[in-house]
Amino acid sequence: MKKNIKDIELSGKAVVLRCDFNVPLDENNVITDDTRISSALPTIRYLIEHKAKVILLSHLGRPKGGFDSRYSLQPVANRLSELLQQPIRFAASERVVDDSVRRTAAELAPGQVMLLENVRFRQEETDNDPAFAAELAALGDIYVNDAFGTAHRAHASTEGIARLLPAVSGFLLGKEIAALGQALEKPEHPLLAILGGSKVSDKISVIENLLKKVDILLIGGAMAYTFIKAQGGQIGDSKVEADRLEEALKLLNLARQNQTPLYLPVDVKAAQAFANDAPAAVYAADAIPTGWMGLDIGPQTIELFKEKITQARTVIWNGPLGVFEMPNFAAGTLAIAQALAESEAKTVIGGGDSAAAVTQFGLADKIWHISTGGGASLEFLEGKTLPGIAALEDK
Ligand code: 3PG
Repeated sequence: MKKNIKDIELSGKAVVLRCDFNVPLDENNVITDDTRISSALPTIRYLIEHKAKVILLSHLGRPKGGFDSRYSLQPVANRLSELLQQPIRFAASERVVDDSVRRTAAELAPGQVMLLENVRFRQEETDNDPAFAAELAALGDIYVNDAFGTAHRAHASTEGIARLLPAVSGFLLGKEIAALGQALEKPEHPLLAILGGSKVSDKISVIENLLKKVDILLIGGAMAYTFIKAQGGQIGDSKVEADRLEEALKLLNLARQNQTPLYLPVDVKAAQAFANDAPAAVYAADAIPTGWMGLDIGPQTIELFKEKITQARTVIWNGPLGVFEMPNFAAGTLAIAQALAESEAKTVIGGGDSAAAVTQFGLADKIWHISTGGGASLEFLEGKTLPGIAALEDK
């Protein structure tokens, strides 16, 4: 178990707090979903209440290692200040750390908060450069990591810095590890996993790891077509990873060997083009005619998957079942989200698209845990060690 902010003395200390404020922005640089900011508030508030001086770090997007105003954290500073109802000092240095930033940090009073500019404006961040980690570490006395979404990256502000200061976890990181860890390692059985999304190639290691743990596995989304084709099904013009057919067969065999029931869609809603208003029809999942592409699971599959959900006590869901961004192909993902919201099972949703879907459907508050991590939760489900967590001190 990792040490957390309750295990250390904070009063009067300068705390460098790494958050994942990598939020979506629209073309006018307006934040379209502030979940990642609001999820960090409990830790920030606790630090303020315990009279720490709070120095916040985050990345935003993937700038190319130099200043780029499109990726400035200014909108985050504004939103954070609204949510906290207190001013945030935004250190707008293009170099992230410079003399003026150091002065501002040194002048912070207990309970005050500052936010540095996007750490990825320095190439040394993603290089996990020790000298940059030292520049960041020199700003504070203690390092706290609450950036679960970035815990799979060994970067200067997530891993390098943790070697240089006493390093503990924040509440969000702790909550994520507890929820995902419980679902994966100590679930109430039956444990059901639902995987969707577009690519089998992204999920091979997840499937391999989950097959060791789950009682039932459901596969939907575009990745299902690679499995169906691998078994000789006709998938028409559906998305397929032709170079992954053998791997898909191996995974199906692995499920058989483990005696883990694995369900693929039995029917699909297909369209004649990748467009919401394209002519659509339901076909058997292994008999999709040429000229048609599967864009959602069909009604029989929805019923099958819903019935499996009613049997589960714990559910792990990662990846949408269809193109939920298009209303005509959202029914499968919506039905599964509703079934999970109504179910008594503890459901953990790996972040990214499935989290966005549940939020879009207004069901987020009915789900036991929605991870703020996309790639990070996937790597967690793969059973990998996340460097940002590994670097923190144990209790
Ligand atoms: C995410 O959105 O998954 C995290 O913020 C990590 O971002 P990255 O994939 O650019 O490292």
